[in-house]
Amino acid sequence: MQPIGVFDSGMGGLTVLAALAERLPDESFVYLGDTARLPYGSKSAATVSRYAIQAAQHLHNAQVKLIVIACNTASAVALDELRAAFAPTPVIGVVQPGAAAASAACKPGNARSLGRRGVLVLATESTVRGGAYARAIQARNARLPVYSRACPLLVALAEEGRVDDPVVALILQDYLAGYLSADQSPQTLLLGCTHFPVFRRALERLLPQDVAVVDSASTTAGVVAEHLEQSQQSSADLGATPKPKPTIRFLATDGVERFARVGRTFFGAPVSDVELVDL
Ligand code: DGL
Repeated sequence: MQPIGVFDSGMGGLTVLAALAERLPDESFVYLGDTARLPYGSKSAATVSRYAIQAAQHLHNAQVKLIVIACNTASAVALDELRAAFAPTPVIGVVQPGAAAASAACKPGNARSLGRRGVLVLATESTVRGGAYARAIQARNARLPVYSRACPLLVALAEEGRVDDPVVALILQDYLAGYLSADQSPQTLLLGCTHFPVFRRALERLLPQDVAVVDSASTTAGVVAEHLEQSQQSSADLGATPKPKPTIRFLATDGVERFARVGRTFFGAPVSDVELVDL
């Protein structure tokens, strides 16, 4: 059974892997976290593309049937390049699924009735700089105002496992200044970074109740499931009895012990036997 390859700059993409494993329980996965070079989000587009190509190449060499770019920054910067480099292996990023989730969560309205009430995207510096989310959301609904905010400190806090820490609320308040009151808040807050779903509860405590908080994990899993069905590559359809037991392999480019320890925060289940690899 060929596995699905998933990569991220670090452990945050385990939130996407968790959604994939839940949606596709018959599939095997290889997850690669490029922990030695995290963060991607503060690097130039050229560097992110180079790293993403190397990570995808490693998965490609492991004979995966499909590559998921769980990293928002790499998806925003390098999706087309990866598709061209690894064709015919399909490559799926998280930006389009995230944009779909955000626009679906917004109520229809005209520019006047929406006022400021569009989508606020929280992401890394590199993702915000490239504007990929704004383009993808407005391609679905040109009337929706889209605002973006780079929140680099959240990546560091999540990587440290400091999720239920009083400092988180202070930092979120700072990043969301100008978006917190009822008349200034967005309709939808899009978590446009792998690491941010772990702060969902803290964000929901700060924002007015009617703000929908969405991320790309489950919509990405839906896109992958659809692709496997359409291309008849779904392991659920394998005729073999007994079916091979699905497995999940974890690879990291540095700090395998830390990956296993902190990875649990993102994956929501134990992460074990992490293998050290060099790209
Ligand atoms: N994986 C990155 C993303 O989703 C966040 C961490 C990083 O900056 O590398 O954008």
